[in-house]
Amino acid sequence: MRLKGKIALITGGAAGIGLATAERFAKEGAKIILWDLSDKGNEAVERLKKEGHEAIFKKISVTNEVEVHKAVEEARKYFGRIDILINNAGITKDRTLLKMSKQEWDDVISVNLTGVFNCTQAVAPIMKEQNYGRIVSASSNVAIRGNFGQTNYVATKSAVIGMTKVWAIELGRYGITVNCIAPGFIHTAMTDAMPEEIRKQSLPHIPLGKWGMPEDIANGYLYLASDEASFVSGICLTIDGGAAR
Ligand SMILES: NC(=O)c1ccc[n+]([C@@H]2O[C@H](COP(=O)([O-])OP(=O)(O)OC[C@H]3O[C@@H](n4cnc5c(N)ncnc54)[C@H](O)[C@@H]3O)[C@@H](O)[C@H]2O)c1
Repeated sequence: MRLKGKIALITGGAAGIGLATAERFAKEGAKIILWDLSDKGNEAVERLKKEGHEAIFKKISVTNEVEVHKAVEEARKYFGRIDILINNAGITKDRTLLKMSKQEWDDVISVNLTGVFNCTQAVAPIMKEQNYGRIVSASSNVAIRGNFGQTNYVATKSAVIGMTKVWAIELGRYGITVNCIAPGFIHTAMTDAMPEEIRKQSLPHIPLGKWGMPEDIANGYLYLASDEASFVSGICLTIDGGAAR
């Protein structure tokens, strides 16, 4: 087992990539702290427990700094430590630059950017005390190649790459590695919401000729969260079937 006895906090863990990651990590021996806005997190944790894994759920928004700091303390009290933070929660509110409202801009910034900042700032002191930690955040391959209608989203996902590099430099001395993943098109609720035409248009740009599955990204998170990646820090691992060139 690649995460035996490790305590992993996964944000946005009730669906899609986060849920696949919680399941994968649990099978590799991790104890799961699952956070999400959605009550579906309860069902996910109940399923994990039935399969014999240890898991707890907290309904929370990563945008709420005060709640995030409180919930990190609660989780640390419950499990005694936090080894892994997966900053996975994210949203889209797509609109072209000429039409995007300030609200659409603010909403995406507050979850995808400030949310990652809040969770990392709350967990990093615990990892520092432990002299051990693994932080992996969700960027996107659109941070590398740009995308029509995604000013707000691309701003946040590019910022995740930048913050990852800064935190790798700042936190490395405390035994903490910090990395991110840049997924391409992955089958989840987020991408199912896209117009069929756009989904079809994406395929010729993916050398492997298909979209990825949530498990493809869970495997990337797993590698970067495991001790196999103990000398890997400050990178962005693209997992997109070869699309971002
Ligand atoms: N699916 C893709 O193709 C793709 C591509 C690139 C990057 N990503 C990134 O991967 C991550 C996961 O994406 P997904 O496709 O699984 O999304 P999803 O929409 O299927 O799941 C996201 C989860 O995050 C939760 N969430 C949203 N806002 C939250 C908040 N404020 N606090 C706590 N939880 C919140 C949602 O309730 C949901 O359960 C996101 O950061 C996304 O931007 C996804």
